[in-house]
Amino acid sequence: MSSSFSTPAILPQEGDAETNEELYGQFTELASSWPCSRGLSRANLLYRHEKGWYSTLPLMVGAMVADARFAARPSDVVVATMPKSGTTWMKALLYSTVHRREHAPGGPGHPFNSVGPHECVRHLEYQLYTRNRVPDLAGLPDPRLLATHVPLASLPRSVAASGCRIVYVCRNPKDTLVSTWSFVNKFRAEDGLEPISVEAAAGYFCDGVSASGPYWDHVLGYWRAHLANPERVLFFRYEEMSRDPAAHVRRLAEFVGRPFSAEEEEDGAVDAVVKLCSFEHMTGLEATKSGKTELVLGAVENSSFFRRGLVGDWENHLSPETARKIDAITDAKFRAFGLSV
Ligand code: A3P
Repeated sequence: MSSSFSTPAILPQEGDAETNEELYGQFTELASSWPCSRGLSRANLLYRHEKGWYSTLPLMVGAMVADARFAARPSDVVVATMPKSGTTWMKALLYSTVHRREHAPGGPGHPFNSVGPHECVRHLEYQLYTRNRVPDLAGLPDPRLLATHVPLASLPRSVAASGCRIVYVCRNPKDTLVSTWSFVNKFRAEDGLEPISVEAAAGYFCDGVSASGPYWDHVLGYWRAHLANPERVLFFRYEEMSRDPAAHVRRLAEFVGRPFSAEEEEDGAVDAVVKLCSFEHMTGLEATKSGKTELVLGAVENSSFFRRGLVGDWENHLSPETARKIDAITDAKFRAFGLSV
């Protein structure tokens, strides 16, 4: 790993450990009294926060601590997504675009050779505000690149107050569902649990009971924020990124205030970022094949964030009837807001 890699493995804590533990304890006690329901998650159980569902209680508590303690800066860039919507890809694109001057995308010493995108752009509630920790992020260089799966309404309050930038990636609900279902069942198999059937998974998803769900509320929240404030909230679709990744890398670079110069364009810098972050290249990297990322739920193999990386894989799994049901909900929820996915 390059010595100038900008996200240290261990971050110092803010405040003293006892006070932080108390804060986590208070939120845990509060959240423990809220309802849970069977749903699309590893444990087949989800925890209800008034603004959305969480797949574990510590995750919800982490989001609450981040809300209370994270101090956003105007220069921050936050990747926001529903799980399984292309987060890993966007983290890779954002990190390699922002840091292309220190780490040439085609160069042999690129951080992706040693660590996955989730180590380069860390999640607030899955990686930073976890295990009674309140990390001291003040020392990280600008722009700090962070991520979250929480709905817009649950973003740390300092994010709105700071005016920092948000990059949202939306994916077709049927592919998001199939990707989530596959991910959940992979972990259920590791836990020695029966798989959740695709019909049951679709039922939970349509009822909104999936991690960060309801899907439609999550997407609409960020879509409306994008419409109201396009220079602060960028809205990408996974399917459009797949069709023309280079155009999206250019838009991303402009959005974060680091457009590609004519000279970079001529040197093929955009294509180098696209190639570096492509599904084919990322899956071949040693950091993907044998690396792990520490999340609130434990260490997760980096390879689990890559499955097929296709548009329309839902056709191989969902019945026409389920697909029609999801399309009908999507149409009913999104049409009035001019959103199609
Ligand atoms: P599939 O399960 O459909 O293959 P997330 O990163 O939000 O967890 O989303 C994971 C999904 O994005 C998975 O979809 C995964 O294969 C896909 N993905 C991961 N990296 C990708 C990349 N570089 N390009 C395209 N898709 C990618």
